[in-house]
Amino acid sequence: MTAINPVADLSRDGDIAVLTLNSPPVNALSANVRDGLAEGFKQAIADKDAKAIVLICEGRTFIAGADISEFGGAMKGASLHDVQAAMENSPKPVVAAIHGTALGGGLEVALCAHYRVAVPSAKCGLPEVNIGLLPGAGGTQRLPRIAGVEKALEMVTSGQHVPAKECLAMGLIDEIVPEGSLRDGAIAFARKIVAEKRPLVKVRENNAKVEAARGKPEIFQNFRKANARKFRGFMAPEYNIRCIEAAVNQPFEEGLATERKLFGEVMTGPQSAAQRYAFFAERQCNKIPDVPAETPTIPVKKVGVIGAGTMGGGISMNFANAGIPVTIVEVKKDALERGLSVVRKNYENSAKRGRFTMEDVEKRMGLLKGSLNLEDLADCDLIIEAVFERMDIKKDVFAKLDKIAKQGAILASNTSYLNIDEIASATKRPESVIGLHFFSPANVMRLLEIVRGEKTTKTVIATAMQLAKKIGKVGVLVGVCPGFVGNRMLAQRSREAQKMILEGAMPWDVDRVLYDFGFPMGPFAMGDLAGLDIGWVKENSRGETLRDVLCEMDRRGQKTGAGYYDYDENRKATPSPITEKIIKDFMAKAGTNPRTISDEEILERSIFPMINEGAKILEEGKAIRASDIDTVWINGYGWPVYRGGPMYYADQIGLDKVLTKMKAYQAQMGDAFKPAALLEKLVAEKKKFADLR
Ligand code: 3HC
Ligand code: NAI
Repeated sequence: MTAINPVADLSRDGDIAVLTLNSPPVNALSANVRDGLAEGFKQAIADKDAKAIVLICEGRTFIAGADISEFGGAMKGASLHDVQAAMENSPKPVVAAIHGTALGGGLEVALCAHYRVAVPSAKCGLPEVNIGLLPGAGGTQRLPRIAGVEKALEMVTSGQHVPAKECLAMGLIDEIVPEGSLRDGAIAFARKIVAEKRPLVKVRENNAKVEAARGKPEIFQNFRKANARKFRGFMAPEYNIRCIEAAVNQPFEEGLATERKLFGEVMTGPQSAAQRYAFFAERQCNKIPDVPAETPTIPVKKVGVIGAGTMGGGISMNFANAGIPVTIVEVKKDALERGLSVVRKNYENSAKRGRFTMEDVEKRMGLLKGSLNLEDLADCDLIIEAVFERMDIKKDVFAKLDKIAKQGAILASNTSYLNIDEIASATKRPESVIGLHFFSPANVMRLLEIVRGEKTTKTVIATAMQLAKKIGKVGVLVGVCPGFVGNRMLAQRSREAQKMILEGAMPWDVDRVLYDFGFPMGPFAMGDLAGLDIGWVKENSRGETLRDVLCEMDRRGQKTGAGYYDYDENRKATPSPITEKIIKDFMAKAGTNPRTISDEEILERSIFPMINEGAKILEEGKAIRASDIDTVWINGYGWPVYRGGPMYYADQIGLDKVLTKMKAYQAQMGDAFKPAALLEKLVAEKKKFADLR
C-alpha cells in the first residue's frame, strides 16, 4: 500500500490496482481528494503490472460530491476536469466501486470510469439542483447518454438518490456485488473485464439515446409544463433542463462548454448562495453547544401517542414508517377508530401513488395499536401527547402519565403554544419532559421543533435530536416561549395581514405578494385551507371580527366551499365579492377610509416584524443561532429556500434597511413595530445576524 497523500492510497491486488480514498465524513472532492485522484491515477496507469484500476472509498460512502464548503473560495489543487480526463483516457479499464451514495461530482467521476459496480444499498444521484446548482463536471452530458433524456431530466431536476437496482436497470451501474464485499467484488469484476477483453467504454461516445431525442423539442416543453408549479421561483431546474437540451442538440464538447457556462451563472447567483447556506444551516442545528455529540441517549424501541386527531395520527405514522411500534391512546372509541382509519387511508393513497406496496401498508398498520387505556403506555420509551390545546387537559394527562410511565421514559408534548415547564410541573419528573412540536401534516412536514424545558436533561435532548433524524425530520432545538420560534414569528405576520385588510388591501392582494415572494400560499389562502373555525366557538361569536362574521355565515374555508375566497368544486379559489363587501362594511363602521397599500408595504409589513421577532428570540436565547430560525421557516412554513430564511434574507437586504423601515412604521402605526434591541445593536456595530456565533 502506497500513501499517495493523506486521503488517498494506492495498492495492488495481483494485477489489479486499487486506488482508495479516505476523506471523512463523505469523501467530498476537496483539493486534497482531487490531488489524490490525479496522482493516484497517474501512478496506477504507469504501473506496468496493473491491468485494471479500481476506484473505491473508505468510510460511510463513495464520493458524495464536490466539497460545497470550498465553493466561492480560490481554486486550489488538481482540476476535476483533468482527473476525469485521466480516468476516461486511461489505457486500462477503470472500475468505480460504489457504496453509500455517489452524488454530484462523485457520480460525475464514476461516469468517467469505464465500468461501475455497486452494493445493493448504494444510491446514485445528481442532487446539485437542491443547492441551486447543476452538475458542472459533465453530469448533464453523460447521464442522458446512459439513462436517456426523460430519466436524466427527472434526475437532475429532482436531485433524487436512485437505488442501485434501478441504476442497474438503466445501465448506470454494470453489476451489483454482494453487500459487504465491495472491494473483492470490484476486483473480481475488473479481472473479468480484462479476461474478456471488454472495451474501454467511454460514456461520452454513446450517442444513441441523445440522438433519439433530437428534433423533439416537445419533450422539454412538456417536461417544463408538467413541473411548472414545482419549479416556480427556482432558477436551477430550468438551467439543468437547458443543459440536457444541450446534450441532445450539441456535440459532446460543445455541450460540456454550455454546461460550464450555465454552471458559472447559477454558481455566482444569489439563489445557490442561499440554498448552500440552507444546506449547512440544517446540519448546524445538530450542534448544541452544551449537549456534545457524545451525550448518551435513550434507546427508543416503543412509542406511545395520546390523541388520534389531526396530529396524533400523523405523528404515529412517522414512527411506524421507521419500523418503531406505536400505541395510540384515545378517550373515545369512535375517535380512535376514525384516527386509525385516516392513517390507513393515507397509507393506501401512498401505495396507490406507487410509493410503496400494499404489503408495506399492512406492515406499517401492524405496528400501530389502538387503545382506550392510558396504562397501555407503561412500557413505552417515549410518549407524545397530542390532545386538545388546553393547559388543564394537558396537565391532567401528564399527571396521570407520571404515575403510569416507566422510569426514564421521555414524556413529550406536541403543544403549539403552551408552556412546557408548566406542563412538566404536573409531574414529579420534569427532567424527562420535552416539547416535540410536529407540523401539520405531521407525516409530511420535515420540521420538528424540539422544545427544551428548564429542567429537561441533556440525555433527553440528545435522544430527541437523534430520533428526529431517524424519522426523517429536521430537529431544531428551541426554548420555551409562547409559540416557540415558528408560531411566535408567524403571529407577527398574521397580525399585520389582518390589519392590512382593514386598511384597504384585500386578502388576495396580501396573498399574491407573499405567493410571488415564493411562499406556497399567502396567509388568507392558508386560513381557508386550515379552516377558519379552528378555535372559534359558535356560542361566543358576536360578529366582532371578520372571522366571526365569515364563520357565522358558514364561510369556514375550503371545507365549506367558501372562506376569504369562494371555491369551485375543484377547490379552485376566486376572490369573493361577499368577503370584499364584509370587509368594506367593517371599515365603514370603524370610520376607516380605504387607502391603496403598495405591494412593497405589504411585503415589508409581513416580513420585517417577523425578522424583528426573530431578533428578540435570539436576544432571549430561545434559538441557538439565526440559522436555526431560518431552518425552522424553510422546513415548517414554506419560506422559499432560495431566499435562505428570514434572518438570512434580512442580512442580504441589509439590517440597516430593516431597522429604518421598522422605525418609519413605528412612527406611523405604533409599537407593534418597535425595533428589537439586538437589531439596533447589530446595525450600530455594522454586523449581521450571521455574525452572532
Ligand atoms: N461538501 C462538504 N461537506 C459535506 C458535503 C459536501 N458535498 N456533503 C456532506 N457534507 C458534510 C456535512 O456538512 C456534514 O458535516 P458536519 O458533520 O460537520 O455537520 C457531514 O458531511 C455529514 O453530512 P450529513 O449530516 O448530511 O450526513 P448524512 O449521512 O445524513 O448524509 C449525504 C450524507 C447524503 C452525502 C448528505 O450529506 C448530502 O446529501 N450531501 C450533499 C451531496 C451533494 O449535494 N452533492 C453535490 C455537491 S455539488 C457538486 O458536486 C458540484 C459538481 O457537480 C461540480
Ligand atoms: P384534534 O382535536 O384533531 O385531536 C385531539 C384528539 O385528542 C381528539 O381526537 C381527542 O379525542 C383526543 N383527546 C382529548 N383528550 C384526550 C385525553 N385525555 N386522552 C386521550 N385523547 C384525548 O387536535 P390536533 O389538531 O391534533 O391538536 C393536538 C395538539 O397538537 C394540540 O396541542 C395542538 O395545539 C397541537 N398541534 C396542532 C397542529 C395542527 O395543525 N392541528 C400543529 C401542531 C401542533
